Amino acid sequence: MQTVILNSPFDMHLHLRDDEMLKLVAPLSSKTFSGALIMPNLMPPVDAKEALLFYKQRIKKAIGDNDFAPMMTLFFKNYSKEFLEDIKDEIIAVKLYPAGITTNSDGGVEVFDTVELAPTLNAMSELNIPLSIHGESNGYVMDRETEFLPVYESLAIAFPKLKIIMEHITTKEAVDLVQKYDNLYATITAHHLTLTLDDVLGNMLKPHLFCKPIVKSYKDREALVKIATSGHPKIMFGSDSAPHLKENKEKDNAAAGIFTAPIALQILVQLFNDNNKLENLQKFVSDNACNIYGLKPNKKTITFKEKDFKIPDFYEKGTQKVVPMYAGEILKWSIEA
Ligand code: DOR
Ligand code: ZN
Repeated sequence: MQTVILNSPFDMHLHLRDDEMLKLVAPLSSKTFSGALIMPNLMPPVDAKEALLFYKQRIKKAIGDNDFAPMMTLFFKNYSKEFLEDIKDEIIAVKLYPAGITTNSDGGVEVFDTVELAPTLNAMSELNIPLSIHGESNGYVMDRETEFLPVYESLAIAFPKLKIIMEHITTKEAVDLVQKYDNLYATITAHHLTLTLDDVLGNMLKPHLFCKPIVKSYKDREALVKIATSGHPKIMFGSDSAPHLKENKEKDNAAAGIFTAPIALQILVQLFNDNNKLENLQKFVSDNACNIYGLKPNKKTITFKEKDFKIPDFYEKGTQKVVPMYAGEILKWSIEA
């Protein structure tokens, strides 16, 4: 039986939510990951030091004894340099959402004007704080990421010392752009590496596969798989695991977000193995993130066996019930207890 070992996997884009949902999902990440970059799109968003520290405390309580580093992010607004200087050691990045583009992003940026954004972005650049971006326009849903690419480009040019992370890229065009500027980097999710729009609505409508940015075409998926499995040093794994209650996914006006935290690594082992690129998986899930963000890996080692793993129909605690991607299906790789 084939075995794969990963050292200190990091999830560089994770939604842990709060309260009861946090208690359900946090242990499902902290069991297998060494740490994660935690998204700030709570209600209200995390945009002040006290709120951020308090949220981190709640996360630490929820993960229990697991050796897991919650790396906190701040919701992007115009901040003063003094404020950023004061909070710098508590955050790994500032996360920018275009206003209203996804879950709890109403307080995001309305207009991308490099002059207007300059005071905050120059301060971040000087303080070495990376900028993480949800890069979508409010245009036609399939074109939103591509329409946003000129914004990435103008930011990369205007702020050459600012590290800019293109979050959850989904298109071939984004794969091309990230390689064009030294200060652009990207995360890719497990779902964008495995799904196309056909999986979401080509047959029956699958609300648990609905997310922002929506999954794209075969050509796009192929470009994502190619760069991720190559171990390209600018590309990191970020699950964008985004749990919503089962009842909020299985209804009209279903919430966007795919829950993958407990199954993403097994999916990645399978994908890299199927592509004969297992030797690059360690880079994608850990080494590249360590280099880009300057992370110190802990000693966590996760062992995978080539053994069937049936994905649970749901994960549940108290009143909280969440359905994972590929619920009820069989993966070829399991995590050794
Ligand atoms: O599908 C998504 N869900 N995309 C995002 O960008 C946010 C996330 C969420 O927070 O639910
Ligand atoms: Zn996200």
